[in-house]
Amino acid sequence: MRDQILRILRENEGDFVSGEAISRMLDISRATVWKHVQMLQREGFVIEAVTRRGYRLTGSGDILHAALIEPLLTTHALGRNLIFLKSVPSTNGAARELAIKGCRHGTVLLTDGQTEGRGRRGRSWVSMPGKDIAMSIVLHPELDIEFASRYMVATSLGVYRLAKGLGLDPSIKWPNDVLLGGRKFCGVLFELAGDMDSLHTMIAGIGMNINTEEFPENLRETATSLRLSLGRPLPRCEVAASLLNHLEPLYDACQSGADYAALRQEYLACCGTIGQRVSVTGVRETLEGIAEGVDELGRLLVRTEEGVLHALLAGDVTLRRDAPLN
Ligand code: BTN
Repeated sequence: MRDQILRILRENEGDFVSGEAISRMLDISRATVWKHVQMLQREGFVIEAVTRRGYRLTGSGDILHAALIEPLLTTHALGRNLIFLKSVPSTNGAARELAIKGCRHGTVLLTDGQTEGRGRRGRSWVSMPGKDIAMSIVLHPELDIEFASRYMVATSLGVYRLAKGLGLDPSIKWPNDVLLGGRKFCGVLFELAGDMDSLHTMIAGIGMNINTEEFPENLRETATSLRLSLGRPLPRCEVAASLLNHLEPLYDACQSGADYAALRQEYLACCGTIGQRVSVTGVRETLEGIAEGVDELGRLLVRTEEGVLHALLAGDVTLRRDAPLN
């Protein structure tokens, strides 16, 4: 109901809509309208309430809200159960809880502010409230666990296509970072839930810098945002919807070997890591060599100077521009 009231006020943004008109449109009492308006005000919407004139929404600006995203979706499953939380420790953590309770495939948990955002390899992830997005998608693919990497490939590609569609020139850094001008604007954290041989549940956590202009000192050299690359701010609800619209056909393609083959070729073409001299820091060791490709299981293939080919499942890549390719 609250979402419907918000939609009415959004459609008439800047103009008054009487409480009576809203109550008639939605077949609810005026007291109920007022109760929902108060809740929207608490969520951050600026809504004036004036006797005998009604309600007026002003400057909804770049507010993030499920009701503003849903009308922009062209998906069947992704985001059709869209849960927005103003703040949450980690969307991946909250999505996992929902998944355990049996939420449906494509459920999305989106927030304006994470207090304990998680990155890959135990790091933290910072996203600026009011500027960026942090979301997690619950996926229930009917596939064996060995196919998990397909969804990681698909997710980076979805982000890549989104940035490309905005007229930017992104590149993917294996495994899942998406960069603009060599700086990261999007990171992806995958978590699996299920038994050892079947892929019951997967959480795709996506953190995307959209409108941040100033990064903390430690990220200043390595991070960027869509806004910094484009030179203009973007409405976050539109970006969130567009991302889900890009991701759904890619996730669908992961279900079929033939469709996935094409998607993988596209990933390889967009992955700036391939063909480069790299240093990959894994759990136990750091390996140096030439990144020759990414195999069927999403592993980075690195050939060392001794000519040995290693297949790496995880790690942090640094490009070694200092060392020439032989
Ligand atoms: C990385 O590059 O290290 C991955 C970053 C992933 C961050 C996202 S934000 C939404 C989701 N919830 C989390 O706690 N982490 C992921």
